[in-house]
Amino acid sequence: MFKSFAALLGFTTAVYAANFRRVTCPDGNMATNAACCDFFALRDDLQANLFDNQCGEDVHEVVRLTFHDAITFSSALQAQGEFPGGGADGSVLVFPTVEANFPANLGISDGIDALLPFLVAHNTISAGDLVQFAGAVGLTNCPGAPQIQFLAGRPNATAPGPIGLIPQPQDSVDSIIARFADGGGFSSDEIIALLASHSIARADHVDPTLDAAPFDTTPFTFDTQLFLEVLLQGVGFPGTANNTGEVESPLPLTSGDDVGELRLQSDFALARDPRTACTWQGFINQQEAMSSAFAAAMAKLAVVAQDTSSLVDCSDVIPPPTPPVNKPATFPATKSQADVQQACLASPFPSLASDPGTVETLIPHCPDVSLKTDLNIFFPVSQYGQYLRTELVPSESSAELKFVQAGSG
Ligand code: HEM
Ligand SMILES: *[C@@H]1O[C@H](CO)[C@@H](O)[C@H](O)[C@H]1NC(C)=O
Ligand SMILES: *[C@@H]1O[C@H](CO)[C@@H](O)[C@H](O)[C@H]1NC(C)=O
Repeated sequence: MFKSFAALLGFTTAVYAANFRRVTCPDGNMATNAACCDFFALRDDLQANLFDNQCGEDVHEVVRLTFHDAITFSSALQAQGEFPGGGADGSVLVFPTVEANFPANLGISDGIDALLPFLVAHNTISAGDLVQFAGAVGLTNCPGAPQIQFLAGRPNATAPGPIGLIPQPQDSVDSIIARFADGGGFSSDEIIALLASHSIARADHVDPTLDAAPFDTTPFTFDTQLFLEVLLQGVGFPGTANNTGEVESPLPLTSGDDVGELRLQSDFALARDPRTACTWQGFINQQEAMSSAFAAAMAKLAVVAQDTSSLVDCSDVIPPPTPPVNKPATFPATKSQADVQQACLASPFPSLASDPGTVETLIPHCPDVSLKTDLNIFFPVSQYGQYLRTELVPSESSAELKFVQAGSG
């Protein structure tokens, strides 16, 4: 009966089957499409051997990588007949020494080094699929992050992206809005939605004297604190003063490994610009709205410059997300409404409590996994073995250096 219904509508039975039948994969997993089967093993490998099922440093780096890979596309270059970049094509991984050296990509080699062994070990999966899939899987470890749509089938990148397409924190709001429009048709509302990612983010390179300076007080939780805290009046710098792309933060207290909050000039400016201020303020204490707007914008980012008609929906390989922590947004201890620099005039500021305490709370550097064990470099690496041994040398930790020496000796 269904078959004849499909025939009546002019569908072929093949299309009907592809849309509705489930397949049993060789490893026993059930998938909506056979093209999704290989992603189960990749998912389990990433969770066990890279992310440790946590929302730690490696998840943060890979989420940043999804953006830097995808935004490397320009419709203006395309209109001029120049190579526009392949968008979400995995070019960062296929040409691991090219884009990584772009000035806007300081630190991006951490995410590249983390994923390259998985590209080699799961060689039926393209680099572009790997980047976006790893980002979507990693995000599910972050309390409050949504399950992102995942479409599979991006062809491998054939050329590195052009230089100069990745926004930098010292860029003006005008140039950021223009770049996102050119890089995939993103609206200013979608930019703000994507910046929910900075709720799980820490900077290593804005102030090079600091290791993992957080953008909000909860860098391991995908919550709305970022949107609140970026609107608080800045009072100081967590490390050396006034680096390029940095402005004063409201919570600069650094003590030992616990680094104070660092504020990007771009986040500061977008939170206060008339074009984006109300969307920004609107996410404060609105976990559900923030999370769903982010999911929609990420789904768009993940397919920049890709032919979606040839991709297959494998979203059901992405694990269920970790629920949000059950806590409303609050002013960090010592802060209150008096510290808010409200820039959205159209709606009242949400009424929020302040955390108790008379001194600025330290932001924990290391709740669990932020020790970077870099398990991935112990992976069998054939094709990239040489690359890993030589290119990991600039990394900071002595464990990595020892491995490099052992590997080459
Ligand atoms: C206006 C646009 C943006 C600018 C100027 C910007 C800039 C930056 C900068 C300077 C850092 C710190 C890097 C370091 O020093 O280690 C950073 C970190 C990060 N960004 Fe963005 N970003 C933007 C948009 C995005 C978007 C759209 C995403 C993802 C959807 C994203 C995800 C991240 C993540 C997850 C981190 C933390 C990485 C880590 O903790 O290792 N950013 N961003
Ligand atoms: C994509 O390229 C990488 C690196 O060159 C290779 O290991 C992988 O097998 C390729 N994947 C596909 C699906 O072609
Ligand atoms: C940081 O530097 C900028 C530009 O050089 C200057 O306008 C600003 O006043 C400085 N801010 C602080 C807090 O020193």
